[in-house]
Amino acid sequence: MTERAPRTAAPWWRHAAIYQIYVRSFADGNGDGVGDLAGARDRLPYLRELGVDALWFTPWYVSPMADGGYDVADYRDIDPVFGTLAEAEALITEAHAQGLRVIVDLVPNHCSDRHPWFQEALAGSPASPARDRFWFLPGSGERGELPPNDWQSYFGGPAWTRVVEDDGTPGDWYLHMFAPQQPDLNWEHPAVRAEFEDILHFWLRRGVDGFRIDVAHGLAKKPGLPDVGTAPDPADLPYQDVDDVHDVYRSWRKILDGYDGERTFVGEVWLPTAEQFARYLRPDELHSAFNFDILCCPWDAEALRRVVDTTLAAHEPVGAPPTWVLSNHDTIRHVTRYGREDTSFDMSDKRLLDPSDTELGRRRARAAALLTLALPGGVYVYQGDELGLPEVRDLPDELLQDPTFARSGGTDRGRDGCRIPLPWTAGGPALGFSPAGSTGTPWLPQPADWDGLAVASQQTDPDSVLHLYRRALTLRRTRLTHLPETLTWAEEGPGVLSFTRPDGFHCLTNLSPTPHPLPRDTDVTLSSGPLDEDTEGRLTVPGDTCVWWWERGPGA
Ligand code: GLC
Repeated sequence: MTERAPRTAAPWWRHAAIYQIYVRSFADGNGDGVGDLAGARDRLPYLRELGVDALWFTPWYVSPMADGGYDVADYRDIDPVFGTLAEAEALITEAHAQGLRVIVDLVPNHCSDRHPWFQEALAGSPASPARDRFWFLPGSGERGELPPNDWQSYFGGPAWTRVVEDDGTPGDWYLHMFAPQQPDLNWEHPAVRAEFEDILHFWLRRGVDGFRIDVAHGLAKKPGLPDVGTAPDPADLPYQDVDDVHDVYRSWRKILDGYDGERTFVGEVWLPTAEQFARYLRPDELHSAFNFDILCCPWDAEALRRVVDTTLAAHEPVGAPPTWVLSNHDTIRHVTRYGREDTSFDMSDKRLLDPSDTELGRRRARAAALLTLALPGGVYVYQGDELGLPEVRDLPDELLQDPTFARSGGTDRGRDGCRIPLPWTAGGPALGFSPAGSTGTPWLPQPADWDGLAVASQQTDPDSVLHLYRRALTLRRTRLTHLPETLTWAEEGPGVLSFTRPDGFHCLTNLSPTPHPLPRDTDVTLSSGPLDEDTEGRLTVPGDTCVWWWERGPGA
């Protein structure tokens, strides 16, 4: 692959900027209103120019799309709505030629109910060994009419669905921690382990640089599948973070290490304690994991500083690089979160409809971008972050597609609002999401006022969010990623987050309402918003603004 980053001793994944492509909403190449691999291939130059190091593609496999592709029916082929395996292979080669690495999404906790294994299990008798690859159990209650235990699905409702046997009688129940179309696999079964090892080889041979592991904390279940009970300890639930899961990652790590080229695993690990989280990052397990603490953290200097400190402290003993994530395809876009009164995020209480001031949110999002891009470790950019897109909160009920909406009985409006097709041009079919000549009806509608947020509109505006990301990513790549993974806080008073890194780098974020003066003669390299001057002629950083500068060396 073409190398663009300055060569450092550290492997690329320790400091990479990784761009998340939610394939369905990134770019539509064939004009059917759904994003696809052809669209992504067309936009590789855009991604290269943006300055990211790698691309993470959300699942592109054959899927009935009951959960946006996280219900996989064939892990070794591409869904026709996205393209073909040959196109995926071409995409990997082309991305490499542009200096971009490719990470694919691996979904091992569950498959689709249309997966041949589950079809075989359903077709078999209750005693069929085909059912052992899943969690089929008799129900409780006198006639088995109640679920086998009290586990609730993450999407709402019981985590069990009862099957109807061939003779029409109600039969056993199967476990699904997500939608009923996503049966959980039984990781105690050797065939499940063998199958996923083979899937790893399949994609590694095709040149992928890594895997994002979906629900990495969920694969193993506590023996006997005991009830959760009424007052469970969130750090000790029978369906997550069960010790055997680490064994899976140890065997996967050996496989990965057998390939050249610094391949990597990044885990989706949502767990309540830093200690639990860090265990996934031991040197013989996953290389890194998404840091959701920063995503959930309110826009508050003290809270953010605490998250940075606890993150660094949790990673240090296991030698893994921290990562920084502000948004993804499951959460509320941070422009919207940061414009609310409560700027924190909680997956179980998203408060999607709380009022939000988008202008304020975007100003803070710009500052948050510079803050996170300055920190040691890896960073994730969710498609549209670089355009400052807000959450779309007024989608009509009948257009909502995320299963969480129906499963929660409508109390959770789901994740569609952060999955709106990207605007590329100020006009044209679906604002350039779909190609010229197509009818341009995207799978989710874009707001009427998104033409100003389109890539083409931002490209001509030097003050745009897009330009800010480009400048920051370039500076990060050329001047920050080779530095040791350390920072030193500078005490600048309440509401001001300020740190230095080696080579004279300073990052200062003012989260207070009071303008903060910079030392005289500071030569600001990058700022998330306009700066002012005080009566003494010093530059001042207004609230919700972040600046980067480098100290002038002696004689500079
Ligand atoms: C992960 C994915 C999410 C999906 C779930 C079930 O949390 O990020 O989108 O719904 O797993 O696969």
